[in-house]
Amino acid sequence: MSAIKSIDELDAQGKRVLVRVDFNVPVKDGAVTDDTRIRAALPTIEKLVEQGARVILMSHLGRPKGEGFEEAFTLAPAAKHLAKLVDAPVAFAADTVGQDARAKADALADGEVLVLENLRFDKREKNNDPAFCEELASLADAYVNDAFGTAHRAHASTAGVAEKLPAYAGYLMQREVSTLTGMLDAPKRPFVAILGGSKVSDKIKVIDALMNKADTLVIGGGMCFTFLLAQGKSVGTSLKEDEWVERAAEMLEAARVRGCKMLLPVDVVCADKFAEDARTETVSVDAIPADMMGLDIGPETARLYAEAIEGAASVFWNGPMGVFEMQAFEAGTKAVAEAVAANEAADTIIGGGDSVAAVNKFGLADRMTFISTGGGASMELVQGETLPGVEALRS
Ligand code: 3PG
Repeated sequence: MSAIKSIDELDAQGKRVLVRVDFNVPVKDGAVTDDTRIRAALPTIEKLVEQGARVILMSHLGRPKGEGFEEAFTLAPAAKHLAKLVDAPVAFAADTVGQDARAKADALADGEVLVLENLRFDKREKNNDPAFCEELASLADAYVNDAFGTAHRAHASTAGVAEKLPAYAGYLMQREVSTLTGMLDAPKRPFVAILGGSKVSDKIKVIDALMNKADTLVIGGGMCFTFLLAQGKSVGTSLKEDEWVERAAEMLEAARVRGCKMLLPVDVVCADKFAEDARTETVSVDAIPADMMGLDIGPETARLYAEAIEGAASVFWNGPMGVFEMQAFEAGTKAVAEAVAANEAADTIIGGGDSVAAVNKFGLADRMTFISTGGGASMELVQGETLPGVEALRS
């Protein structure tokens, strides 16, 4: 397996460098509402600017149809936002490989930045179309991939283009991969993995993978009800996946055999409807009313989970414990977030997606060791899958 070249090995002075970033950020009324991913790419961008490169940034935003411009998915707000964060002129091209992009790429001076329009306005991006890869590559002398969040996609900008130019990994890409693989290969023990989210079916592979690595697996979120069913409990109208009950039972048994302690809720906050103003009741998992649904872990569960987290030397967390977006059902997720934050001696890694939104909501992001910018990408990596965007850098 050939080694991945770091951006540190690139002498970028005077070169046109095409950088894949993940600026797939939330935008409202033309403004970026969460710039975490843009900030995360700054070390790579700043390094290239300082070296005097002509920096051409490309990204996707959302999931447009691939049939041309769609206002809702323009990268213009991200480019405007970047201009406020970086000490260099930032231009924006109204297309990706068209006339405007070409003209503006040619006009770049050393140390200047150009942001291309959304790659996914052209369906050839997702198809990893060879001609599109050629057109992208023709804009530059070298390629850097810093888009860890999109590394699980084999698209033109993440995979194909890497074969056409000297390719390097940016700082964010390197840090994400080394932190997550380091946690899996040599976790400090005890290693506690916390998994939440709504569906067992989405998390099967990650649960399987982590029960081989972690000392304790803490389960919360909607998916816990399928496990509770597997233990023969009644779960009322809670979210459940009947077709996965047998598999959930097998997982409980597999964890037991492998010596991985699996923690399930002992109490839950139930509601008569999925709404902030629902009538709620906190009950034991042995007494979930037939006409109510569990929307959060209960206080006794939160206490037990916090205790497990307190004793950990490393923690990985992906997925909320309940419907934390609604105040009535945020307590479980908040308690877990606070317990992770309070364990300052441990390596605490937040694996992207909703758990990141949760630690941000509770103002605890600064107290975590590492917060991944990749949702799907970090899950695939933890599951032991190879990421096309990383593999492409080996060629
Ligand atoms: C993400 O937000 O997970 C990445 O930017 C990838 O986006 P995608 O799921 O639309 O490919």
